[in-house]
Amino acid sequence: MTAPRRSAQWYGGDDRNSYIHRAWMRRGLPADAFDGRPHIAIANTASALTPCNAHLDEVARSVADGIHRAGGIPLNLPVVSIGETQVRPTAMLWRNMAAMAIEEMLRANPIDAVVLLGGCDKTIPALLMGAASVDLPAVVVPGGPMLTGTFRGVPLGCGTDVWKLSEEVRAGTLSAAEFSRSESSMIRSKGHCNTMGTASTMGLLAEVLGMTLPGVAGTPAPDARLLEAAHATGVLAVELADSGRRPSTVLSRGSFLNAIVALAALGGSTNAVVHLLAIAGRLGITLSQDDFDRTGAEVPLIVDLLPAGRFLMDDLYRAGGLHAVLAEIRDLLDPAALTVTGRPLVHYLDDARVYDREVIRTREQPLQQHAGIAVLYGNLAPGGAVVKPAAASPALLRHRGPAVVFDSVEDLNARLDDPGLEVTADSVLILRGCGPKGYPGMPEVANMPLPAKLLALGVRDMVRICDGRMSGTAYGTVVLHVTPEAAAGGPLAKVRTGDMIILDVPNRRLDVDLPPGELEAREPDATTVKAFAAPARGWERLYVDTVGPASTGADQGFLLGSSGDQVSRESH
Ligand code: FES
Repeated sequence: MTAPRRSAQWYGGDDRNSYIHRAWMRRGLPADAFDGRPHIAIANTASALTPCNAHLDEVARSVADGIHRAGGIPLNLPVVSIGETQVRPTAMLWRNMAAMAIEEMLRANPIDAVVLLGGCDKTIPALLMGAASVDLPAVVVPGGPMLTGTFRGVPLGCGTDVWKLSEEVRAGTLSAAEFSRSESSMIRSKGHCNTMGTASTMGLLAEVLGMTLPGVAGTPAPDARLLEAAHATGVLAVELADSGRRPSTVLSRGSFLNAIVALAALGGSTNAVVHLLAIAGRLGITLSQDDFDRTGAEVPLIVDLLPAGRFLMDDLYRAGGLHAVLAEIRDLLDPAALTVTGRPLVHYLDDARVYDREVIRTREQPLQQHAGIAVLYGNLAPGGAVVKPAAASPALLRHRGPAVVFDSVEDLNARLDDPGLEVTADSVLILRGCGPKGYPGMPEVANMPLPAKLLALGVRDMVRICDGRMSGTAYGTVVLHVTPEAAAGGPLAKVRTGDMIILDVPNRRLDVDLPPGELEAREPDATTVKAFAAPARGWERLYVDTVGPASTGADQGFLLGSSGDQVSRESH
């Protein structure tokens, strides 16, 4: 005997409560809408203020068509949306809040399954975190990347080329007028950033985790095949509601290790570290920062996309897409890891083909031999720090140089271009107070700009260290996610300008060269402590009081794990 649907807890029976639930929802629905048909929410992050997701209402309509066709009832559910470029102080401050709101609305409502529509950086992580904590049958439709714009005949990579062009302006090699002319060319179409930034990375990794219809991730947002896949996802969602296949039955440790392998092969964003750790934390799956180094560090980079390489997301799709990449590294994938269809991920790789070897390389001729995330430890990062060697300058991966320390983003902006700042190409720029608690929200500021006077000398990379994050579209020798962060009592708060910093990526070390006991004996300066965030109320206060370290995903401690799909009390 099949179990009654979850939605029947609202709609089943003939008492006053079920009458109320049905009556208020009828509004044109067919008469048999409440006779046991699955009710499927479409958790929709479409918003005019999240430009990368603004097209998701159209995607939602195709999902709804598919749900109808398969006999389900589609229910559009607008959820908290986070526009990476728009929200202040930083989108990451709102990821956990969005995940919490999504979780609660999925649990509180009469639904049997959910289709998750995301795109811009934090939206897919938040949707997956929330869905995992409810553990209702769920499937993601990634909104897809935009088409590539060009300026002066040259393709533009969102984000990456903004950093590059703005550095050229600061170096005096590009006029401010030309810089502003490029603005209208940067965003060519609907969709999210077209580089291998965080949105592209998390859309692709949602599929590697097994949480999408196989073959959809990376489909450009304006491509008609995205709507076709959205329709098919609606059909699949009804099957998911019938089968009861949930995130906890699809996702395993093997799924996450597959995502780590793919992250390296794709040259994906360092932000995937905190997002994958946070999603795993909602499922109670054991995953640590060290798994990224152990499992991914030796994986070759075979996708030639910005910021590590040359091409953009529509080139990857044309070249064969995600499946063609995964087929190249098939032997490194867990063959047992499932997808939402109930079949393993590797099942879908048999027909994969590479159509452009410039974009998707062979294992024998990779873009870089070892491309994963390296996790460093030492007296500056007892809890670990992350560096992406593929985005760094090889000559700087072993480096010793004097620290130039900034207490906050404001301090950095005020002093970086001061002609009197004592800094050379060998200096190590340190920015602290930018961890989850310190800022708050762990902004993407670790790839701090270089001093203008060094740019003018032709310097294009320096060692930079920060307890914050780095945009997935950024590049450089940047050590980030330093844990514990300065605001949580980390040693980063005690480093002083002039201290010798030793970075040794091959040996996974990050240290300050001080006599034994000196660092421990120091206290942070009052100006350093004063720069840490101290919100008085609201979400920011709750966030700062309860957020965990980057090394475990920067989730709120009280949101770890799952509460299941049952509401705590019945109403009325
Ligand atoms: Fe939305 Fe880049 S700003 S994906």
